[in-house]
Amino acid sequence: MPDSLRFTEAVRFRRPPGERPSPDPLSMDKLKIEGGVPLRGEVPVAGAKNAALPILAAALLTDGELQVANVPQLADIATMAKLLRGMGVRVERSGTDVVVRADAVTSTEAPYELVKTMRASVLVLGPLVARFGRARVSLPGGCAIGARPVDQHIKGLELLGATIRIDHGYMVAEAPRLKGTRIVTDMVTVTGTENLMMAACLANGETVIENAAREPEVVDLANCLTAMGARIKGAGTDRIVIEGVQRLGGARHRVMPDRIETGTFLVAAAATGAFGAADVLLRDAAPQTLDAVLDKLREAGAVLEAGANSVRVRMDKRPRAVSLRTAPYPAFPTDMQAQFMALDAIGEGVGRITETIFENRFMHVLELQRLGAHVAIEGNTAVVQGVPALSGAKVMATDLRASASLVIAGLVASGETIVDRIYHLDRGYDRVEQRLAALGGRIERVK
Ligand code: EPZ
Repeated sequence: MPDSLRFTEAVRFRRPPGERPSPDPLSMDKLKIEGGVPLRGEVPVAGAKNAALPILAAALLTDGELQVANVPQLADIATMAKLLRGMGVRVERSGTDVVVRADAVTSTEAPYELVKTMRASVLVLGPLVARFGRARVSLPGGCAIGARPVDQHIKGLELLGATIRIDHGYMVAEAPRLKGTRIVTDMVTVTGTENLMMAACLANGETVIENAAREPEVVDLANCLTAMGARIKGAGTDRIVIEGVQRLGGARHRVMPDRIETGTFLVAAAATGAFGAADVLLRDAAPQTLDAVLDKLREAGAVLEAGANSVRVRMDKRPRAVSLRTAPYPAFPTDMQAQFMALDAIGEGVGRITETIFENRFMHVLELQRLGAHVAIEGNTAVVQGVPALSGAKVMATDLRASASLVIAGLVASGETIVDRIYHLDRGYDRVEQRLAALGGRIERVK
């Protein structure tokens, strides 16, 4: 058991140092980037945000103590902690170790003020209904990248026996003990699969989720739930079978590496190869969870070496523009689409990037055009004509992965780029500018 999982008494009861405050959306932090330097060196990859979020919510399923290691220090994690604490859940954080205990829950409500800042808050719905028989969770509302409704979460919980009504913008759910059943989601939904899998753990009898999401984060959650005593088969396939149990207990779990952060750094390194020999090693990674991304990087001309828990990228020429089509795992992840558009923007040739998951995930196009990118949008396809060089400009982040795309573009643009509204970036990347600077990138955070 790695030391980081060995919780000493001291860690468990020491007052956790102040958590990284979730950045104030009005904060005017900006990133100043001077492009043109090939990235070289070694950085560690943090734990996966999209695994840690459902895992923290899973603590609601038990009165036992859930000890979670390798939790990334991000704004979204701080938001989830705030949401849980608002329900009377004990959340103690010490660095990347978090101890959660829901043995004195005082509220089963997820307020609009928090849900509107982070859609993943909806992940408390399944556990609350399953353990307490009731929940009042704000509808998330729209989001920059699309409508992102939660109708499948509701449909699945109703099939499990809950009654859910919409009241003043809130989903109000009530349920006797949930009853196992067969659920076929209309489309592949990651948090929908996670919510329903968590709820089914405490249902009476067997639940089968068909058309389930196969993302590695779903598997990581299933592994944690199993450690808590759940009986789950098929996580990682499109058919998950859950045998309900009476109760779940506490457990220890180490969050998987963040595959999207890994992919983001790999693309940044490969893009800077146009300026010289880029050579970056990412430690504590899980390369087997991002095969589709590695394949595309090789197609762009990068040399990749995947180890058991590391991945190295080398590139010493301008990338070739690549075409891709986003789709549910194991196909190319939508969360890497914007990053590849920045790579294509300076690539040789033309790349056709098709987004099939979200209906409005091309907001980075307008900003990339300000940096000199030649991109034309045809329906849900962006046609990127690579140019030899981008030129620095002031640009604005609009959502998490678009921000990453603009940082990558800034690293390869000649002159100075200022990326504004980087609170979007802080939601999913922990001090990314420090790690990019450690790799030689000329990047700093300015107020
Ligand atoms: C998860 O969002 C991720 N977030 C997203 O990452 C990721 O982009 C997305 O999966 C797709 O991989 C977390 O895991 C916290 P979906 P989620 O439900 O679960 C539609 C990031 O950058 N849909 O798989 O909200 C939906 O509108 C974030 O870290 C319904 O119509 O996505 C979308 O078009 C961004 N009804 C598609 O399905 C529903 O009830 C896939 O959405 C649910 C989803």
